[in-house]
Amino acid sequence: MLIVKATEDQIKRAAQELRAGRLVAFPTETVYGLGADATNGQAVARIFEAKGRPRFNPLIVHLPDGVAAERIASFTEKANRLAEAFWPGPLTLVLSRRPKSGISDLVTAGLDTIAIRVPRHPIAHALLAAAGVPVAAPSANVSGHVSPTTAQHVAEDLGGKVSVILDGGPTDHGLESTVVDVTSDRVVMLRPGAVTREQIEAVLGEPVLRMDELGASKDRPRSPGQLASHYAPRAKVRLNATDLRPGEVLLAFGPPLPGSNGRCENLSPTSDLVEAAANLFAALRRLDATGAETIAVMPIPETGLGEAINDRLRRAAADR
Ligand code: TXA
Ligand code: MG
Repeated sequence: MLIVKATEDQIKRAAQELRAGRLVAFPTETVYGLGADATNGQAVARIFEAKGRPRFNPLIVHLPDGVAAERIASFTEKANRLAEAFWPGPLTLVLSRRPKSGISDLVTAGLDTIAIRVPRHPIAHALLAAAGVPVAAPSANVSGHVSPTTAQHVAEDLGGKVSVILDGGPTDHGLESTVVDVTSDRVVMLRPGAVTREQIEAVLGEPVLRMDELGASKDRPRSPGQLASHYAPRAKVRLNATDLRPGEVLLAFGPPLPGSNGRCENLSPTSDLVEAAANLFAALRRLDATGAETIAVMPIPETGLGEAINDRLRRAAADR
């Protein structure tokens, strides 16, 4: 059976599945999540494959408690106050990620920030505690469909693509968590959700900016990339490269182009798109760090996860 009642034994089994790199759907107090081990890039890539997401949006990392969260992100004073007030619960905090967090770059879409949530749902909590790894989880629906609030919804959408669906009955809120950016002194609401603006403002004792107020505000975060939803390489990006030009470094897919010795990152020597997705952001960062002016990218097929990989690369090529 794909849908199982979330008994203690089934939760333990599901935790093992997560640790083995497989996908597990589980209830939270907001909506059902499609979970994978956030430290395993290929497991995270399978989330995007299963959802049929044509883009790599950064994902929320789910943890059993604030102590686990402290290990992978740094908390500002305001972040601490919000965590204390709303965790466990339907609030997601965007924080600075610790350099050695162990979280796959695919989870954060290569950003230095990370979205973290400590759910209140007892089944989610038990699963996260048993898994012992951070769990990346978007809503457990096919991209473009509505978010699932029952195990049956998940089965209809993602049936063949998950190892197990833990059934915890209908979710309480049926609305996603509220996402706030607390990396700078001005708290910004990135996505409205189950916790209201008023509740957050009452805890902070100050207004929370909306995304659309940000442009006009004098207090907008100083680092322009701060609220960008994707890491953008500093280097220029040249797509569909069939040769390597002077001063270029190579982002290879499959057997690398000749002449790239040492100035090459290979997304997947065997042309495997899941592996390529898992490596994409980390590889871009490493190539960027060489200081090269241009990253030449070999052609990548437009099928399956290739669509999301190419979307990301096209935007990197077009940025600025
Ligand atoms: O209620 C929820 O939040 C559900 C349950 C399963 O936890 N999850 C969920 O995940 O709705 P998802 O992937 O559908 O939405 C994640 C949101 C997106 O709006 C994404 O842009 C934002 O969080 N996000 C994630 N990481 C971010 C980051 N580093 N910076 C800015 N926004 C981020
Ligand atoms: Mg969603």
